Amino acid sequence: MAEDQGRPVGPDLSQGVPLAELTDGGKLVGHVGNEAVLLARQGAEAFAVGAYCTHYHGPLVDGLVVDGSVRCPWHHACFDLRTGEAVRAPAFSSLDTWTVEQRDGKLFVGEKRARPSGKPRAESSLPNRIVIVGGGAAAFAAAEMLRRQKYGGEIVMLSNDDAPPVDRPNLSKDYLAGSAPEEWVPLCPDSFYSDNAIDLRLRTTVAGVDVRAREVALAGGEKVRFDRLLLATGAEPVRPTIPGANPSNVLVLRTLADSRAIIERAKAARRAAVLGASFIGLEVAASLRARNIEVHVVAPEERPMERVLGPEFGEFVRALHEEHGVVFHLQTTASAIDGKEVRLSDGSVIEADLIVAGLGVRPRSGLAESAGLRVDRGVVVDAYLETMAPGIFAAGDIARWPDSHSGDSIRVEHWVVAERQGQIAALNMLGGREKFSFAPFFWSQHYDIPINYVGHAEQWDEIAVEGSIAGKDCLARFKRGGRTLAVASIFRDVQSLEAEVNLERDAPP
Ligand SMILES: Cc1cc2nc3c(=O)[nH]c(=O)nc-3n(C[C@H](O)[C@H](O)[C@H](O)COP(=O)(O)OP(=O)(O)OC[C@H]3O[C@@H](n4cnc5c(N)ncnc54)[C@H](O)[C@@H]3O)c2cc1C
Ligand code: FES
Repeated sequence: MAEDQGRPVGPDLSQGVPLAELTDGGKLVGHVGNEAVLLARQGAEAFAVGAYCTHYHGPLVDGLVVDGSVRCPWHHACFDLRTGEAVRAPAFSSLDTWTVEQRDGKLFVGEKRARPSGKPRAESSLPNRIVIVGGGAAAFAAAEMLRRQKYGGEIVMLSNDDAPPVDRPNLSKDYLAGSAPEEWVPLCPDSFYSDNAIDLRLRTTVAGVDVRAREVALAGGEKVRFDRLLLATGAEPVRPTIPGANPSNVLVLRTLADSRAIIERAKAARRAAVLGASFIGLEVAASLRARNIEVHVVAPEERPMERVLGPEFGEFVRALHEEHGVVFHLQTTASAIDGKEVRLSDGSVIEADLIVAGLGVRPRSGLAESAGLRVDRGVVVDAYLETMAPGIFAAGDIARWPDSHSGDSIRVEHWVVAERQGQIAALNMLGGREKFSFAPFFWSQHYDIPINYVGHAEQWDEIAVEGSIAGKDCLARFKRGGRTLAVASIFRDVQSLEAEVNLERDAPP
């Protein structure tokens, strides 16, 4: 659906819409005054909420109404239709809500409702101070949820980054391509932290956790006591260890500073070599092509992304990037860097004035390990995201949790998962007993093609494709023993949302 661009969209909902136009689960977009409003029906009830997602302005009319909520078609944020609350990341801000009245076989949208406000909670069972180690997706979402829950105690957020929490996915996409200004990169205005009494301390490295004394030690020696602790230290990019490679000639991408450094180098670069055909490697390739830089991608696999998405998607991704001018050097690796020359193991040489590694990441689980917490290719947590030490939680790229859908213990590196885990950990740090039971979701953008993926399939014995991958209109189900574990799609947003709902309903309780 086209954006409203300031013009009223659809019918004037204050004048009434025939009830028969909205079937159960149906929705339509219209306006009240100058505001675009989504009118949605579930069972006998009708709801009116803002028509656009508060994440990236996705059109909710193209989403899915389910269990009293509407899910966004683009990155699966979920809003409560009754209250407008953004109950699942990646959106955080609520939608506005309006009253709806039913009379004479029509639905009339009335007044906009006031946003609820409330006093801080003061139960004696609540912790006095919650410390969050990290300043990324999981950490931000946890802090935001704690305040949304009216937690009135202290929140201390310790991050060794020099930037406040940023929209990390943007760093390899529009921001790197030059089509999103830097103002769009922070997750929220700087004032959010002071307005919400979140003590965000940047450039602050946590060097140790004393589980018994319930305090963390900062690199400068200061100790910070906690009643509950969330470890959300994320992951760090793997750097190549080949001869001649060093941090000044091979750049990596994790932080805003990394993205700025690539942009700075790209200004004078004519040819770039990207080492690794990971999601991030390929997004970097696409963004550098948008800057008219010749791009060579070097990777050991036969087809990019084949390990995650299977051979047919791999072929598609390769062809898509080739159509945009990317040159692949597959089934080979970089063996040495010599000045501007990248030497490959097949004997060939690429001359490049910009080299970026997209070789994957390693979870930053060192703090947990030295604190004596259980670490097994990630920090091991239970379904409530609590580590083996009561009151100490872990979320995001570092956490390995029991996934109810696949039945496996898994760790994933997805933005939305990290945020939702931060939200669940926040509820549990306040004494809740919420299991992390969402189906993992990620998206990846290549030029104008978004690939959405729900579920988790490390191995499968069948990929059932509906539609056409090459035709950029498809839904691929990754199955094991006849059971769907994950679904990848291109331009099948509602089906992707339906797959998410089915995966969640299919999970054992
Ligand atoms: C460029 C890029 C693009 C991406 N695009 C997508 C995408 O399109 N879709 C998707 O699903 N996922 C994407 N991802 C992955 C996604 O960003 C991660 O899964 C997510 O950020 C993980 O969140 P996190 O909170 O676990 O870690 P992070 O967001 O990495 O945050 C970790 C934080 O911990 C801090 N920290 C670490 N150690 C310490 C310490 N000892 N003391 C103090 N602070 C510490 C770091 O400074 C950082 O602030 C992308 C990642 C990158 C880098
Ligand atoms: S635009 Fe709605 S979740 Fe991203």
